[in-house]
Amino acid sequence: MLFDQKTVLITGGASGIGRQCALAFAREGAAIVISDVDAAGSAATVALVQNISPQIVAVPGDVTRAEDVAAMVAAARERFGGLHVAVNSAGISGTFDHKLHETDEATYARVMDINVKGVWLCLKQQIPAILSSGGGAIVNLASVAGLVGAPYGSIYAASKHAVIGLTKSAALEYARSNLRVNAVCPSYTDTPMVSSITAASTVMAQRTQQASPMKRLGLPEEIAATVLWLCSDQASFINGAALAVDGGLTAG
Ligand SMILES: NC(=O)c1ccc[n+]([C@@H]2O[C@H](COP(=O)([O-])OP(=O)(O)OC[C@H]3O[C@@H](n4cnc5c(N)ncnc54)[C@H](O)[C@@H]3O)[C@@H](O)[C@H]2O)c1
Repeated sequence: MLFDQKTVLITGGASGIGRQCALAFAREGAAIVISDVDAAGSAATVALVQNISPQIVAVPGDVTRAEDVAAMVAAARERFGGLHVAVNSAGISGTFDHKLHETDEATYARVMDINVKGVWLCLKQQIPAILSSGGGAIVNLASVAGLVGAPYGSIYAASKHAVIGLTKSAALEYARSNLRVNAVCPSYTDTPMVSSITAASTVMAQRTQQASPMKRLGLPEEIAATVLWLCSDQASFINGAALAVDGGLTAG
């Protein structure tokens, strides 16, 4: 198995892509720590993973709080003896139906706090923990909105461009320390994040279905498979990449 004897910390593990990552890593033998602000969703992920492996623990936590992030990393060390892989999936979309000049400061603050400061705080604490466990890999969930603009989602796009900046900088800093840092950039993926946008508007429902040249949403399982592969030794020379998983959306 690809992740036997390895511990994986997944933020945003209560839902969507984070939950599918927990299942994918568990199938490959990893011990899993998930963390999320959603206690009920976390409990549901734990129950699903326990069908595969007993090696899972959920640590309640908000990625914008350094002390919560410290508790997630400490749980990996205390429960499973170290940390080898981190997947930073916690994130929010903010508004997707406002032009830039209509977007308010509260949305800006919340989206940047969770999507950018949250990833930065996680990297700050995950990196030394992974280095002291002998090295490993980190994947940050960015978005195609980190590669190209997102009309009506300008703050989200700004936050995901920032995630790619953090990813590339970390990749360069730790390249000689046996730590690879990459980003995955999905297009619209069938998770609660997208259903919350499409439920509010039929225009958005159509836009999300039609956005990719393949004329369908991505599946969270497809994103998780890419994350798992990027964290494995099969991707041992991939570092600092921002890999689109988008059915060809950014090819055009
Ligand atoms: N679904 C998509 O279309 C899509 C596309 C591109 C990128 N992404 C990115 O992928 C990641 C996962 O998205 P998803 O689709 O699985 O969304 P989701 O809403 O299903 O899951 C996100 C999880 O993050 C958690 N979360 C939110 N704020 C948090 C905080 N402050 N601290 C800890 N946890 C917090 C939520 O409770 C939720 O469980 C996000 O970073 C998102 O921006 C998603």
